[in-house]
Amino acid sequence: MGSSSPKYIHGYLEQEQERLREQALVIERPIYDYIDFSEVKELLEIGCGVGAQTEILLRRFPHLQITGVEYESRQIKKAIENMSKLGYDESKVKFVQQDAKNLHLDKQYDAAFICWVLEHITDPVKVLVSMKPFLKPNALVSITEVFNSTFYTYPVKKEVIDYWRIYNEYQVQIGGDPQVGVRLGDLLEEAGYINIDLRSGGFHLDSRHPEEKRTVFNYWKNLISSGAPLLIEEGLVSEKQVNDMQLAMDELRDMPHAVFYYRFIQATAYA
Ligand SMILES: C[S@@+](CC[C@H](N)C(=O)[O-])C[C@H]1O[C@@H](n2cnc3c(N)ncnc32)[C@H](O)[C@@H]1O
Repeated sequence: MGSSSPKYIHGYLEQEQERLREQALVIERPIYDYIDFSEVKELLEIGCGVGAQTEILLRRFPHLQITGVEYESRQIKKAIENMSKLGYDESKVKFVQQDAKNLHLDKQYDAAFICWVLEHITDPVKVLVSMKPFLKPNALVSITEVFNSTFYTYPVKKEVIDYWRIYNEYQVQIGGDPQVGVRLGDLLEEAGYINIDLRSGGFHLDSRHPEEKRTVFNYWKNLISSGAPLLIEEGLVSEKQVNDMQLAMDELRDMPHAVFYYRFIQATAYA
């Protein structure tokens, strides 16, 4: 990563690009059970990454035509590869390389979708303001964002919570907001959207859901490990701390009575 490019906690390594796809599938139901784009034709997706959500959107709503906005060329390259492997051509999905805070698009869309993006952006209201002129009046906006202080495990593992605290503090230090989910209502209002509705979704997994719990503990270990290279590079954690956190997550995963809890926030609103 060049010194002039903004710092991005997950990084853009191949392994991370694959993780985004895996992540999107693990958390698909809790997100998409509450999203309905069946009346939408042209959809604007902000911060589309490698197209992990794009893929799900096109599978669930096959009539959609999606324009994905992403500012990192490595993500766009991978997104194009992923979409063409799935058989989608430019008539179904295209990608534009732009900063979501300063959009220049050539049309107005029926709806917009944002997932796991605003947490990385300083002044996220700028994204919502910037996309508004490119939405038709009354266009539907769906946003899903993190609320990281809700993460809890039983039993509490010091190796995990210490790492998680450092991870989130670093996210703030580089201009992000790991609690941005709770602000979605105010951000949407400030940007002039109407009929704002908020809900929280996520996981509360215990011994009643052993398989899903195992999958989610693994998914979460990979998610929080994705910050490790940058945290190590910045001298904020050691490799040993990362290893200990990973071992602790594995122990939790294998413990029948461990509990996993996390909430994200989902907003819908209209332009
Ligand atoms: C965690 S990824 C999520 C990608 C995708 N939404 C998903 O759920 O798989 C966040 C993406 O937002 C992109 N991003 C961050 N800030 C951006 C900005 N200002 N404009 C456009 N893209 C941005 C990053 O490059 C990254 O690919």
